[in-house]
Amino acid sequence: MTSTPTTSSSSSSSSTPNSSSTLVTGIAELVTNDELLEEADHSEHLGRLSNAAVVVQDGLIAWVGLAARAPETDDRRDLGGRAVIPGFVDSHSHLVFAGDRSAEFAARMNGVRYDGGGIANSVRATRAASDDELRALVAARVAEMRAQGTTTVEIKSGYGLSVEDEARSLRIAAEFTSETTFLGAHVVPPEFVNRRAEYIALVIGEMLSACVPYARWIDVFCEPRSAHAFTEDEARVVLSAGREAGLGLRVHGNQLGPGPGVGLAVEMGAASVDHCTFLREEDIEGLAAASDTTVATLLPGAEFSTRSRYPDARRMLDAGVSIALATDCNPGTCYSSSMPFVLALAVREMGLTPAEALRAATVGSAKSLQRNDIGVVRPGNRADLTVLDAPSYLYLSYRAGVPIASALDRGGRHGS
Ligand code: NIG
Ligand code: FE
Repeated sequence: MTSTPTTSSSSSSSSTPNSSSTLVTGIAELVTNDELLEEADHSEHLGRLSNAAVVVQDGLIAWVGLAARAPETDDRRDLGGRAVIPGFVDSHSHLVFAGDRSAEFAARMNGVRYDGGGIANSVRATRAASDDELRALVAARVAEMRAQGTTTVEIKSGYGLSVEDEARSLRIAAEFTSETTFLGAHVVPPEFVNRRAEYIALVIGEMLSACVPYARWIDVFCEPRSAHAFTEDEARVVLSAGREAGLGLRVHGNQLGPGPGVGLAVEMGAASVDHCTFLREEDIEGLAAASDTTVATLLPGAEFSTRSRYPDARRMLDAGVSIALATDCNPGTCYSSSMPFVLALAVREMGLTPAEALRAATVGSAKSLQRNDIGVVRPGNRADLTVLDAPSYLYLSYRAGVPIASALDRGGRHGS
């Protein structure tokens, strides 16, 4: 979906051979997230323009402003009065898996608690799948995301849990995104159940070396409440080795109950700590103090699909915590690839305004990936735009469940 982050000095619309500029116009409401944009409505930090246009050239944004002042371009695309927002940045997903765990979802809806044990079922099916089968599954999931407005996706490994299967999961993920995350420390696989220390040695040794060429990040499921996941000390060892190998740090923490994940992420300067469902006061204070470095990535689709309480996003934002929203798309706790669904949950169940939810799902999740070329519609950034079949961004949660969002292709052409 997103290729290697592009840096470009070209923020004008000057032409290079074979490059053509496209005016995307007919935008009833443009949300830019650009807090410096002249003539924009800056309420709720959305940098909103009415009757706007954007010039796209070479996959980048070349110009943003009122349609009435748009420059000459080679080509033109009229969206007919729709809203445009920055493409969703889904900064947490586990798309490389095979198999079916729908029965676990049904059992949870009848009261069975989630504890991570079902991950072993996905590991078995993923190991048994061929490269081509896995590649086709990932391609279909990425296409499904794009059709719902996601323009950048982070993809984790974590259903291989052997040297070979983790490396191939990341090799396949890297065909679709530059935001790849090594999650060998997802759970202790069945063959190592009574040999945890040996498994951790493998993760930080041979497995890490095999995965580093395909990974940008390392993640760990730090959850002492789950017999399958990792303790604080184990997680620290894994993250330290990843950092040593040059990877950025991410943590699954505080998903099943209060625990050490958030404190560890803050201590180690992780870019993101994800879930944050059960936080104590000191966790919130720590995250607020670390808000320049560590983003709390909230995954309400997982709470929905595990019948859990939701994280207190309102309290986090009010305390000064940097937050992001992502799907966590995975076969166990949330088999939804829909960012609009996540936004609707964040608004309805987590106390966010529609504007706060939209910012968390775009510029907030871009920050969790340490990216400033996405999430904000401004000249020089990637032309990652999402069109809403609606006049305003408010319709994202107002028309929950209706497929109004889709990604605009980078040449400025709308798919439908
Ligand atoms: O983010 N909690 C850890 N990992 C995933 C779920 C994995 C699974 O159950 O397959 C999550 O919720
Ligand atoms: Fe996850």
